[in-house]
Amino acid sequence: MKNSLLRTFALFLFVILAIQAKSLSKNDLQEQKIQSLIKKMTLQEKVGMLHANSKFYVSGVKRLGIPEWALSDGPHGVRAEINRHNWAYAGWTNDSSTCFPPGTALAASWNPKLAYERGIVLGEEARFRKKNVLLGPAINIIRSPLCGRNFEYMTEDPMLNSAMAVPYIKALQSKDVAASVKHWLANNQEDHRTSVDVTMSERALREIYLPGFKASITEGGAYTVMAAYNKFRGDWCSENDYLDREILRKEFGFKGVLMTDWDAAHSTVKAALAGLDLEMGTDKKDYNDWYFANPLIKAVEEGKVPMSVVDEKVANILRVMMKTKVLGEKSRDNGIMNTPEHQKAAYNSAAEAAVLLQNNGNLLPLNFGKLKSIAVIGDNATRKHCGGGLSSEIKTLYEITPLVAIQKKFGNNVKINIAQGYEKQSTFNEGSNSGQSNTDKVDWKLIDEAVEAAKKSDVAIIFGGLNHDFDSESFDRQHMRLPYGQETLIREVAKVNPNTVVVIIAGSPLELGGIVNRVPSILWSWFGGMEAGNAVADLLSGKVNPSGKMPFTLPVSLEQSPAHALGNFPGRDLKVNYEEDILVGYRWFDTKKIAPQFPFGYGLSYTNFELEALSTDKNTYNKDETIRVKFSVKNTGAVYGAEVAQLYVSDPVCTVLRPAKELKAFDKVFLQPGEIKVVELNVKVSDLAFYDEAQKAWNVEAGDFILQLGNSSGNIVRNLKITVK
Ligand code: BGC
Repeated sequence: MKNSLLRTFALFLFVILAIQAKSLSKNDLQEQKIQSLIKKMTLQEKVGMLHANSKFYVSGVKRLGIPEWALSDGPHGVRAEINRHNWAYAGWTNDSSTCFPPGTALAASWNPKLAYERGIVLGEEARFRKKNVLLGPAINIIRSPLCGRNFEYMTEDPMLNSAMAVPYIKALQSKDVAASVKHWLANNQEDHRTSVDVTMSERALREIYLPGFKASITEGGAYTVMAAYNKFRGDWCSENDYLDREILRKEFGFKGVLMTDWDAAHSTVKAALAGLDLEMGTDKKDYNDWYFANPLIKAVEEGKVPMSVVDEKVANILRVMMKTKVLGEKSRDNGIMNTPEHQKAAYNSAAEAAVLLQNNGNLLPLNFGKLKSIAVIGDNATRKHCGGGLSSEIKTLYEITPLVAIQKKFGNNVKINIAQGYEKQSTFNEGSNSGQSNTDKVDWKLIDEAVEAAKKSDVAIIFGGLNHDFDSESFDRQHMRLPYGQETLIREVAKVNPNTVVVIIAGSPLELGGIVNRVPSILWSWFGGMEAGNAVADLLSGKVNPSGKMPFTLPVSLEQSPAHALGNFPGRDLKVNYEEDILVGYRWFDTKKIAPQFPFGYGLSYTNFELEALSTDKNTYNKDETIRVKFSVKNTGAVYGAEVAQLYVSDPVCTVLRPAKELKAFDKVFLQPGEIKVVELNVKVSDLAFYDEAQKAWNVEAGDFILQLGNSSGNIVRNLKITVK
């Protein structure tokens, strides 16, 4: 018996060692190949791989079989082909792609499976377009409601950020397309993004701004990272030794490619030594003049940059090329574009993103079988959004607007009274938010027409919110209000039709205080991608039950929001200090006991849920253990739906200030009416730590912690105390 046990153990050990040896040798082999290629390269050839040779391509070395490297913008679709040497579109006929709802919509689904599904589609389409790197996901923390790029980012919470980024990256890279996690780091505003110097405490850096990037690299295995435009603690992100060498390379063990954002390089020697690999988008006509071109050759020749540093950069690029089968293997498949499955994925993403903010008297869902007439009002009923936002804009194969979908699905049964309601008064001005000036004009002619349409309809649906003149890269919004006199429009329509539904199409927070008491129902449906209209029509009719939750807090007013309450957005004299520290988003609202309009994590459904029987496997834990949390979720209503159970944790007694609660785990649970499911969530005790600046390390202080289970940060229904030894 003893002998046979020993034999089994020996066999087991042998298998493990054999597996290890095999995987080791694959990596070793790869590294050997990389080194032997580098040995054959001239300095000119090496440097040729370290800067772009056009807008989105990087040279290879033909004589050694190293192909050109092709990059493309994401993050929510593969961008259309751009001319090699200017920013105009190339006018290809085969580059219309699938357009997903942007980042905040993805995060609002609270469904990591959708992030995975998106990654697969993006990978397949990037492959079809022969792209090797897709510039996404974009995961900067939503610090201010005004950041122009909030729509493209995901959330104010580092845990939700990581939970979405990791599956996106894994899926994309499983299709042999490298992800590029951006923008490293602290690109949390667009105003002065190319000149602002960001400072924050080490604790805020560690607890809020780094976790998404860390998870993307250590769990997601991201092959490339894009350095942001801004400075961080006095140094540009593209040449920031602390960020790029110390944290990214040494701490996170990043072995991939660190590239600049487009035109974010500022030096040769400093950037080279700090660990930047690839220079993109520099605004100098002759590519030889770029920092990582002739000046780098000169710096090597003068001994200012060791050859080993150049070799390291080339190795990083070759490594990613090998891992994505650009080099070395012949098995790259061709990819596919715009299949029905891809379009279904875009639809799923839009359908699961929508957040039902309010539904007094259960006005929604609408029974289109019984209604005789509806009014469809508002510029966003007919506006297409996929083509906006700047670098994330998508030339989509098609985009279904809400009006088109409603007409198609219900037009035969229901009379649709259409009114413009308000006009888009803004203009898009790249690099300047001046297009948003004077956009609060109330157009009474349009309002009167809308009121007439609403009067003769059973239900009025107003499609409002923002568009990409507001939610865009390269500038911030000037305020958080609904533009174009929409509040007046909504109030006037609601006066004549009590059955008024407002659908908000926007990617970042808006002030809703002026409408919440006027209309019974508000559905936040985001920029919905190519299937936006189909999804919103199905949500309004109840074919789909809303299951999204806000990925950011909706403040009553801008002044409530931390960076604005403290007056440090967008900074002064090109400097911004994140004084709110770790109290970003709901961490601020809950800790300071400020009631927002709608809290982080909030969203209603057409059914109801109960969260019950919260328990843990033990009461007391060691610091290296995992807390196994269990509870049940029951659908107590009459229709199928999904609830996002959110587990927050607080540390009531601690030597430093801790937020009132922090999200540590969540699960989206799909349930038939009456169905109960038991959910198990695991939280590592080490995840309860704060970053201890004195010790320069994560620290879990022994004592009690409170587990808080709820369906938003504002609605905790069960608490449970555990103790850490
Ligand atoms: C953006 C990046 C983008 C790049 C290339 C920059 O302006 O900040 O996110 O990938 O342009 O278009």
